[in-house]
Amino acid sequence: MVSIKAIREANKTIAPKSLTAVFVGATSGIGLGAIEALLQNTTSSTVIIIGRSETKFASTLERLQKLNSSARITFLEAQVSLLKEVERVCSTITSQIESLDLLWLSQGGLNMSAHALTSEGLFESFAISYYSRMLFMQKLTPLLTHSSDARIISILSPSSEGTINTSDFGLEHPTSYTKFWAMQKHGVSMMSLAMKEQALLHPDITFLHTNPGLVATDVHVKWADSMTGLYTPFRYILRWMLIPLMHSLALTPEDAGQVGFYEATNDKFEAGKQGKNFWRLWQDAEDLGEKATEKLKVYESDGTQKKLWEHTLAVFRRVLG
Ligand SMILES: NC(=O)c1ccc[n+]([C@@H]2O[C@H](COP(=O)([O-])OP(=O)(O)OC[C@H]3O[C@@H](n4cnc5c(N)ncnc54)[C@H](OP(=O)(O)O)[C@@H]3O)[C@@H](O)[C@H]2O)c1
Repeated sequence: MVSIKAIREANKTIAPKSLTAVFVGATSGIGLGAIEALLQNTTSSTVIIIGRSETKFASTLERLQKLNSSARITFLEAQVSLLKEVERVCSTITSQIESLDLLWLSQGGLNMSAHALTSEGLFESFAISYYSRMLFMQKLTPLLTHSSDARIISILSPSSEGTINTSDFGLEHPTSYTKFWAMQKHGVSMMSLAMKEQALLHPDITFLHTNPGLVATDVHVKWADSMTGLYTPFRYILRWMLIPLMHSLALTPEDAGQVGFYEATNDKFEAGKQGKNFWRLWQDAEDLGEKATEKLKVYESDGTQKKLWEHTLAVFRRVLG
């Protein structure tokens, strides 16, 4: 276990390193904390931030630029719940840089709204937190292979993997979405399996599936706000009682960002170190190792992991043509 203090100290030692990084889902919360950590600890880095609204992000962008005047920071607007938008913004990125050291993915959150499909026919929650992340990984792999130490970090919840509905991976049919927490666990398993499969295909790239633990961000407030109808009483309990309590015990987004940046840069997670290039990590950059891997082992050996990746590629073909 590494303390936050030790993580902050270790992050300082990577200067004067310069990184080229793409951040998605980092307009707030943990991702924004990681951008700040990168800017505090590197020189002349290139940072590309993808988000829904350049106007909304303008003042934060100005603050980030002041944090490190040597960094080249650009914002690219895209609605990443749509795969065609992900494809478009990836080709813009590819035209702007030749090599990529870090791909950071933390778009999404918790949503209790009724089952809904995007205009591309994908279950909205998974379009954002699974398919878009996988497409960013796939489209930007050629740039990552040009880096001597390329890393992909996806912030979700390893250790909370659960049973997968193998007949409807994408939960596109409303009847497949029965219980909220079962759906979350299904999504977490998909992330671990798909990243592991990718790690096999690209041994020179580090794949990190990270669980930041409890972090005091707006993700919980947005979750409460998505509770309507029968869930309305829970919204008030969560909003006014549980969230203040949870946040008093949680990591700050700044500290969670420092941990994420540590995972994304520390030597011990370089591909091939420790004989692997896929890690499931916990809050303090601890390797979850074999913890909660029973289901993952079954899904790997019974062919589900490969089937999931084939399904993911089929979805890309269906939506992108
Ligand atoms: N906080 C925790 O305790 C915790 C614990 C475990 C896992 N996580 C996971 O970590 C990830 C990041 O969470 P966070 O705590 O940093 O939350 P956050 O502050 O709410 O950040 C979420 C990010 O995702 C983007 N996003 C949300 N919905 C989107 C949509 N429909 N389309 C495009 N972008 C969207 C947001 O962009 P906008 O600014 O445009 O809304 C923002 O950049 C989430 O997947 C969350 O589930 C969080």
